[in-house]
Amino acid sequence: MDGQYGDSTRSVKSVASEAVPGQAVAPSPVPASTFHLSSDPSDVPDSYGRSSNPTWRHLESALAQLEGAPSALAFGSGMAAITSVLRVLAKPGHKLVVPADGYYQVRRYASEYLAEQGVMVVQAATEEMCAASADADVVLAESPANPGLDVVDLHRLALQCRSRGATLVVDNTTATPFGQQPLSLGADVVVASATKALSGHSDLLAGYVASAHTDLMAEVERERLHSGAILGAFEAWLLMRSLGTAGLRFERQCHNAAALAVALHAHPAVRAVRYPGLPDDPSHRIACAQMKRFGGLIAVELADAEAVHSLVERSVLLIASTSFGGIHTSVDRRARWGDDVSDGFARISLGIEDTDDLIADIEQALG
Ligand SMILES: Cc1ncc(COP(=O)(O)O)c(C=O)c1O
Repeated sequence: MDGQYGDSTRSVKSVASEAVPGQAVAPSPVPASTFHLSSDPSDVPDSYGRSSNPTWRHLESALAQLEGAPSALAFGSGMAAITSVLRVLAKPGHKLVVPADGYYQVRRYASEYLAEQGVMVVQAATEEMCAASADADVVLAESPANPGLDVVDLHRLALQCRSRGATLVVDNTTATPFGQQPLSLGADVVVASATKALSGHSDLLAGYVASAHTDLMAEVERERLHSGAILGAFEAWLLMRSLGTAGLRFERQCHNAAALAVALHAHPAVRAVRYPGLPDDPSHRIACAQMKRFGGLIAVELADAEAVHSLVERSVLLIASTSFGGIHTSVDRRARWGDDVSDGFARISLGIEDTDDLIADIEQALG
């Protein structure tokens, strides 16, 4: 039913509160650690703040709607969501495939913690994900991968995983549910950081898990209860407040990214540009088949680290910061974090500034 609506309508609808006369249209946060109990435990939905909270429920219903899932679970960060799912799924003796070119902390967690527990961790580049996953038990794919923006054929990977009894987990952080819905492509589980474009204002950390597998979701919920990796009620409320405009913001961010990718593609100071929406990008064909929008990130290669610094210094609108998805256009030189990229490689996260202003500013800053 939601498929008939555009992104902004989906955003607004996802956070709409029940139309109860006299009640606030915009819900307030419920910052409770404990709740009044009744003698009948089934009478009260909430008892203690680490197990459940009414503000989470509203947020989780919104996230589930956006991902096209029956349910979602909110976490204190994207990493909390991802590591909880991996702890539940990847058992000693299992083979777990993680992206070699994806978010580096996930790779580290797998090789520094899960491998110690007896999980066989294999790192595979996104473009080799299908081949590397042939005999895996659990596959974590990230598409487009951060920061190189390679895209993996999620439908093909899902079919392969299903035929061999493996579980496919897709990190949907860079695409967002407005860019693609991995569950509809056959993935078993979506994990994501909502710290990025979904919250979009660079003022909170949050993550979530969405899936139609009820047993698995129950295990992940238990893992959240035990590990305590929960989202504060205020952050849950703030994220929900932001979700109402997420479709609108993401539309502008994708528009800005596409325009900047085209402008920089032809610029003599730029050695290479990656954006799945560029017709000659190596990922374009698969991206067209599975993505509705190509995302708000582009990857560029300048001459060296100094060229990236001077781009930011000479620009009026760009800020240097890590993370992405915020309303400000930001630049992150990824070699500083140890990603396997050249010194002049920068990930640009497009904000919601006016497209012409941004392009003019960046072109003058590149000289
Ligand atoms: C693709 C991807 N997944 C997960 C994360 C982790 O999210 P968080 O910082 O909210 O823990 C990040 C963070 O940058 C990311 O880029």
